[in-house]
Amino acid sequence: MDRAAFDTLGWVKLPFDPRLAAWVDSIQPQAQQAINDPENRANWLRSQGTWFVGVDVLRDFAPLTGPILKAIQHAMGQDQIDLGLGQISVCTKGYPLQDAHETTAMFNYRRKRDFAHLDGLKAIGPKRQRKMEEFHGFILGIPLNKTPPKAAPFVIWEGSHLIFRDMLQKAYAEHPPEKWAEIDITKIYQQTRAKIFDTCKRVEVHANPGEAYIAHRFALHGMAAWNDLLDGPDEGRQIAYFRPYWRGDLQEWLENSVL
Ligand SMILES: [Fe+2]
Repeated sequence: MDRAAFDTLGWVKLPFDPRLAAWVDSIQPQAQQAINDPENRANWLRSQGTWFVGVDVLRDFAPLTGPILKAIQHAMGQDQIDLGLGQISVCTKGYPLQDAHETTAMFNYRRKRDFAHLDGLKAIGPKRQRKMEEFHGFILGIPLNKTPPKAAPFVIWEGSHLIFRDMLQKAYAEHPPEKWAEIDITKIYQQTRAKIFDTCKRVEVHANPGEAYIAHRFALHGMAAWNDLLDGPDEGRQIAYFRPYWRGDLQEWLENSVL
């Protein structure tokens, strides 16, 4: 892993590793079963069925080993990592279509701005007040099938992790960690996000099975629309994501975010 690139850009792509390709093969039966499970589909289909969100549906998998383990240890800043449960995200042709509950503004943000967000930050109540509700270590994406690059790829704004880190350090400077989840950061978040859109490079990340990518926990990221000119594959683009919860001192989560 190119640690300097991760620290500077806020993401890195890991080259093909046969061990990871074998890991992907090993979870395929479970992944496909989870995708086709009627209860999962009732819970997790969004955007008029063009997106299967699939949070926590991957429950039984072998530990990750080799270069990918070293890479996530660097991203987390910790050696002991409990990956938690895996998400299986599937996007299909036409993503996104507007859901009934989705305002036109939200839908346009999804379609034109990749629904860019900071993980763990939730929009709460009718005023959509932004508060950090979850504290993650990193985002790890592991492609499960081969797709064209424009099939709803992961999107990241390079260098945004440093800008959001500064924002969070400023917002939480006067408060103990146990109070952070209560602090409304809507205004500073929206201002900072606008600055990131203006100044950071937007990158679409594509990878094949056996490859992977890691995004920094403070990176602005999202998912691009399925390109109108693309006509497949029918099974969509399938990616396993892991977002382990931070363990230990939250002050370290905030301060030791770039080693
Ligand atoms: Fe996310």
